[in-house]
Amino acid sequence: MGSPEQGTAKILTNRQGHPIVDNQNSRSVGESGPLLLENYNFLEKIASFNRERVPERVVHARGAGAFGTFRAYGRIGEEPAETYTRAKVLTDKERETEVFVRFSTVVGGGHSPETTRDPRGFATKFYTPEGNWDLVGNNHPVFFIRDPIKFPDLIHASRPDPVTNRFDPNRRFDWVSNTPEALLVTLMTSSMRGVPKGYRFMNGFGVHTFKLINAEGVATLVRFSWISQQGCHGFTQHEAHQVQATNIYHATEDLHQAIERGEFPAWELCVQLMSDDEHPELPFDPCDPTKVWPERDFPLLPVGRLVLNRNPQDYFTEVEQSAFSPGVVVDGIGMSNDKLLIGRTFAYSDSQRYRIGPNYLQLPINRPKCPVATNYGAGPMAYRVDSAAAGVDAHINYEPSGGNALREAPAVGVPHEPFVAGHVTHKKIARRDDYSQCRDFFHALSEFEQQDLLHNLVHFMMPVRRELQERMLAHFDRIDTAIGDAIGQGLGLRKAVPVPEAVS
Ligand code: HEM
Repeated sequence: MGSPEQGTAKILTNRQGHPIVDNQNSRSVGESGPLLLENYNFLEKIASFNRERVPERVVHARGAGAFGTFRAYGRIGEEPAETYTRAKVLTDKERETEVFVRFSTVVGGGHSPETTRDPRGFATKFYTPEGNWDLVGNNHPVFFIRDPIKFPDLIHASRPDPVTNRFDPNRRFDWVSNTPEALLVTLMTSSMRGVPKGYRFMNGFGVHTFKLINAEGVATLVRFSWISQQGCHGFTQHEAHQVQATNIYHATEDLHQAIERGEFPAWELCVQLMSDDEHPELPFDPCDPTKVWPERDFPLLPVGRLVLNRNPQDYFTEVEQSAFSPGVVVDGIGMSNDKLLIGRTFAYSDSQRYRIGPNYLQLPINRPKCPVATNYGAGPMAYRVDSAAAGVDAHINYEPSGGNALREAPAVGVPHEPFVAGHVTHKKIARRDDYSQCRDFFHALSEFEQQDLLHNLVHFMMPVRRELQERMLAHFDRIDTAIGDAIGQGLGLRKAVPVPEAVS
């Protein structure tokens, strides 16, 4: 791979198809004379180079991708999958669905180290015959916020200071200490789960509450999880520093090399289910993405298996230009009242129209692998003529029409039509409880992981202002006074409680 073999090379051309006879010497007047502007090949080469970049993703810029397949088991728990959903990608066990997955870190730029302590993105595009389904998740089951209006502030607080361009932990802890809904994922990212050993060694989570909708139009609330068949493994902060000293691409390298070796990584897709109502009996809102659905009450039910078995041919064409959106679902999967999810459905395609261009869905990596027949078109870089592919009259780019034109599709199954009513308002959801699940998370960790987490938090908070340390300690106390005390002692703000002599 990669090394050009002498004698087998093909003729180099420019983008007009003209053979390039001299690719080493610009056209000039005499051997040392001025260059000529008529030199098309030179101008095209430099101009193309100047345009080799599109804007990075505003978040999740650093990533790696791979192709593979997904196959459903045909059952969800004890039931045929059709009991819950009419989405064939989840019900038809004879069908192998092509997928493309992009993993990523969030905050850093396109070439930032992959050892960073940051959530990891886990975005999957299913190319189904009913159109694409994008499941755009992370490696933690919860997110920092429950309202999309807070997202730019979360990202600004996580980024370098706008004046000094340096990371400043005061900014992040200032924001977190004023946003207690972010505590649970802050604990998760500060733990050993915060720096996965590689993309193969982490689970993925859809995070949001979606709906499964069956042929009768009946909906069930659902959360999606990808369970790694390689196991979950993370680095301690010390190990992460050691890797970062010599390799800032370790996760990309690991994924690519495993696939090259034929060790194809796999994940099992699982769902958790809840009936489609508000569940007043629960201490949390089922549509709150800052809360987990505890597995003891809502067990993981296997649905299918994903295998990644092919590396991209070209990073820019296939990985950089890939475009996912949580709003892209197939019939049988729907949106819930999760505010964050609905906010995201706008953000992604808007970003992609700017980042790649309005015709980004015509690119092979994003184009559905089923017929696409729209009346949209034109705009920069348009090349596909939908009407020609659909065999309709190209003069009729509107609907309705009595001619040989595109027309609306027949309905599939009974529509799901939830009833919604309420005052138009700006309000927080009622059930917030930002502390109990933090306590559960901490106590579910092994002794080693608890110590590692406490050590990391002390280390991260050591450089921040006293007033922010105090505010964070107040939150830790509300989670569990033992956590507040341990971190307070580590920061030198609280005295160690003397340990009683052991009585034999
Ligand atoms: C990427 C916005 C929350 C996971 C992006 C992008 C934007 C964005 C604008 C870049 C899209 C592109 O240019 O292709 C937001 C907003 C959020 C939000 C406004 C909240 C309101 C989340 C959550 C998750 C998540 C909750 C995980 C469940 C991802 C992933 C990518 C991404 C995995 C990278 C997709 C790829 O690999 O191309 N986000 N995001 N984001 N976001 Fe979010």
